[in-house]
Amino acid sequence: MREYLKKLTERGDIRSIRKPVDPEFELAGLTLLSQQRDDAAVMFNSVTGTNMPVATNLYGSRQRLCEIVGADDGNFCQRWSELHRQLKTSVANKYREVVSGKDRISGKLSDLPLITYFEKDAGPYFTSAVFMAKHPDTGIHNLSFHRSMYVDNDELRVRLGSSHDLYHYYKAAEARNEPLAAALLLGTSPELFVSACASLSAEEDELQMAAIIKGSTVSMASCETIDLMFPTDTEIVIEGYFLPDTLKPEGPFGEFMGYYVPVGDNHVFKVSHVSWRREPVFHSIVCGTAEDMYPLDYTTAARIYAYLCDQLPGIVNVACHPFLMNTVVQIRQEYEGHARKVLLAAVAAHMDYSKTCIVVDDDVNIYDLNDVWWAYLSRGRADTRAQILKDIPGFYRDDNKDHWGRLLIDATKPFHRRDDFERKQIPGMDAMKLDDYL
Ligand SMILES: Cc1cc2nc3c(=O)[nH]c(=O)nc-3n(C[C@H](O)[C@H](O)[C@H](O)COP(=O)(O)O)c2cc1C
Repeated sequence: MREYLKKLTERGDIRSIRKPVDPEFELAGLTLLSQQRDDAAVMFNSVTGTNMPVATNLYGSRQRLCEIVGADDGNFCQRWSELHRQLKTSVANKYREVVSGKDRISGKLSDLPLITYFEKDAGPYFTSAVFMAKHPDTGIHNLSFHRSMYVDNDELRVRLGSSHDLYHYYKAAEARNEPLAAALLLGTSPELFVSACASLSAEEDELQMAAIIKGSTVSMASCETIDLMFPTDTEIVIEGYFLPDTLKPEGPFGEFMGYYVPVGDNHVFKVSHVSWRREPVFHSIVCGTAEDMYPLDYTTAARIYAYLCDQLPGIVNVACHPFLMNTVVQIRQEYEGHARKVLLAAVAAHMDYSKTCIVVDDDVNIYDLNDVWWAYLSRGRADTRAQILKDIPGFYRDDNKDHWGRLLIDATKPFHRRDDFERKQIPGMDAMKLDDYL
């Protein structure tokens, strides 16, 4: 992350806040205000109660995320598919280089910035930590984010969503009556961050995927107290293990949907060691903002894109925008009814999300819901182009069935009258600069 911060600083992509900032609410509030102004990353140089500066909104930019994976044309999904193909043919265990990690400084959790984000949060949370763990049976690495409530220097309470791999790793360890060792990586390389947002299949190593995005090996060193290696460019590493058969109250916490998740019994993580690089920088993410949603949106869209490309022709791009549960698919129509087939496949492509699925032509901006909605309104009838699928379960955490059902919208042009819907253009407008005329 340090090298990435340097790059952002050199090109003026980071806003530096020098005045002292309170980690309770003030840091989160200023982050939101900065995000409302533009997508610059933010560096808080002075945070009360800690010596560590705090970086935030590093990944709250679509353009920066595309740059990280090398999607030069802005099509993240297509580039991700290329990288994923490379993962399938690359050699396991050739991706890392073992080095010494002895130059790190040891400390305790309370030395880190303890940030409270929203009014009713139970207390400080670590929101940007990438959990790295090895499957107890296969040894395959998984990377994923899990909000972690600070209890004291020895304990965190963590939500392991039951549809995520770390939960299955935990269950596999529990079946052996063993704790599951994990390292929380705070302030990772951008490649590892993006890989952690993705849900790869059980046999695919997400650390290896990080190396493929990076295009070089990852330098790793042994943890001090657990049988794991950590990437040495990680700013802060928290080592420990999940206790088997143990759940304790965690929450409330203001999370990605914009509401508070109430107190629930969640997993207990015992901290065995904390270390950091010299002059570490802490990474904070305000849940539910662009820095949380854009990386998840892109990696979820990439998964849906890959699934759709396996099923059907003409898939150009996918966005899960403006919220993860909305899937917008851009196609190049090849036959009458093509969009209808894409809609059905899009529902099946992600069982947790895809609550609404919309298909548009390739002249519509899938990141602009105004444009998407305009296409639905201007390219055909309202009644025959929308369909409701009733009583289908959606998001895995949904006791009240708030996320059941699907809405499918075909917002494409009528296949046989496509020429009637040519978008009007002004020749040469792209090259015009208004400022040249003022
Ligand atoms: C900032 C951030 C916070 C997240 N917090 C949680 C969480 O608290 N619990 C959870 O189960 N998933 C959480 N997620 C989602 C998963 O970590 C994410 O979907 C990940 O890709 C899951 O990986 P897996 O499918 O390989 O297990 C979070 C994601 C991000 C980006």
